Amino acid sequence: MPRAKITALGCHVPAGVLTNHDLEQMVDTSDEWIIERTGIRERHIAPEGIATSDMAVEAAREALAQRGIEPASIDAIIVCTVTPDMFFPSTACLVQDRLGAKGAWGFDLVAACSGFVYGLTTGAHLVASGSHKRVLIIGADTMSRIINYKDRGTCVLFGDGAGAVLIEPAAEGEDAGFIGFLNEIDGSGGDYLKMPAGGSRLPATHDTVDQALHYVHQDGHQVFKYAVRKMHEACRELLERTGTKVQDVAVLIPHQANRRIITAAAERLGLPCDRVLINIDRFGNTTAATIPLATQDAITQGKLKKGDLVLFAAVGAGFTVGANLWRWAY
Ligand code: UT7
Repeated sequence: MPRAKITALGCHVPAGVLTNHDLEQMVDTSDEWIIERTGIRERHIAPEGIATSDMAVEAAREALAQRGIEPASIDAIIVCTVTPDMFFPSTACLVQDRLGAKGAWGFDLVAACSGFVYGLTTGAHLVASGSHKRVLIIGADTMSRIINYKDRGTCVLFGDGAGAVLIEPAAEGEDAGFIGFLNEIDGSGGDYLKMPAGGSRLPATHDTVDQALHYVHQDGHQVFKYAVRKMHEACRELLERTGTKVQDVAVLIPHQANRRIITAAAERLGLPCDRVLINIDRFGNTTAATIPLATQDAITQGKLKKGDLVLFAAVGAGFTVGANLWRWAY
């Protein structure tokens, strides 16, 4: 069985920035509150007319260019998102066409903030099965399209962005690539973070629009408590399952929802701050894109190098939980 490894990474964020000071003009909030309670200073927002597939294509093109390969050689494309351009066709179809990835099949994966980790698990297994040689996993979300900029409890948190990785088989005997995963869902938490309308339960009506039901609704406190506990538990359990010591992990790359969730998880794991990637200050919570964006920063900052053990972890709406352990290949 071939082992799957990550061979390239591309990211894209729109140029436009929404700062905490901008938000002070929009809702009753303050730069101090947002920084202290979340760690966020600014987030990137896509201009009108730009959708999730546009950012996904940019990120994918960068990954392919980095690896120097043609789109036609891609076997599968998985787009992890909760903000598809439309219900159908899937964003994966739109991306496949725009890239010219003529040999690829694919689908959208809906797991909210855990989307990218679920995508990594899925891509790793497609490659490890021997049936796929090149799989693109894209995490992309245009959260600004489903955020109510009158709700201070959510509008300060989210931003837009995309990231893509290429997964390919490792060479025989190569000590690089996928080591293990832990994915869970706990649907009993579904009510705490959701977009209530627009699906088959509550299709769009004047009423659903008037009641602002096409936006993100969150009970932040409940999600916070669950995330703090599960980020730590998922990491701990995956390390145990794979027989890995926490001190051997070069860097933890967690989903970026709240700085306090990340530091609490790192503290409980016993990982020093310099081995945890935090970039929520610049991007906010970009849902499925946080982990690739943070991975790019880890590489740029020299925290993630060839041969390093990297632990990815996320908790999100659903509830969904995911952790992945990889030995970095380049
Ligand atoms: O990635 C998907 C998963 N999502 C998450 O992981 C998010 C998890 N939740 C959180 O990060 C935090 O719960 C929040 C950042 C959303 C909220 O922080 P908190 O420390 O839990 O605040 P809170 O909701 O308990 O609210 C405390 C106070 C409230 O005022 P009162 O009732 O005490 O008077 C809120 O109304 O802070 C108020 N508040 C704000 N004040 C200024 C809530 N949002 C804001 C705001 N600016 N933007």
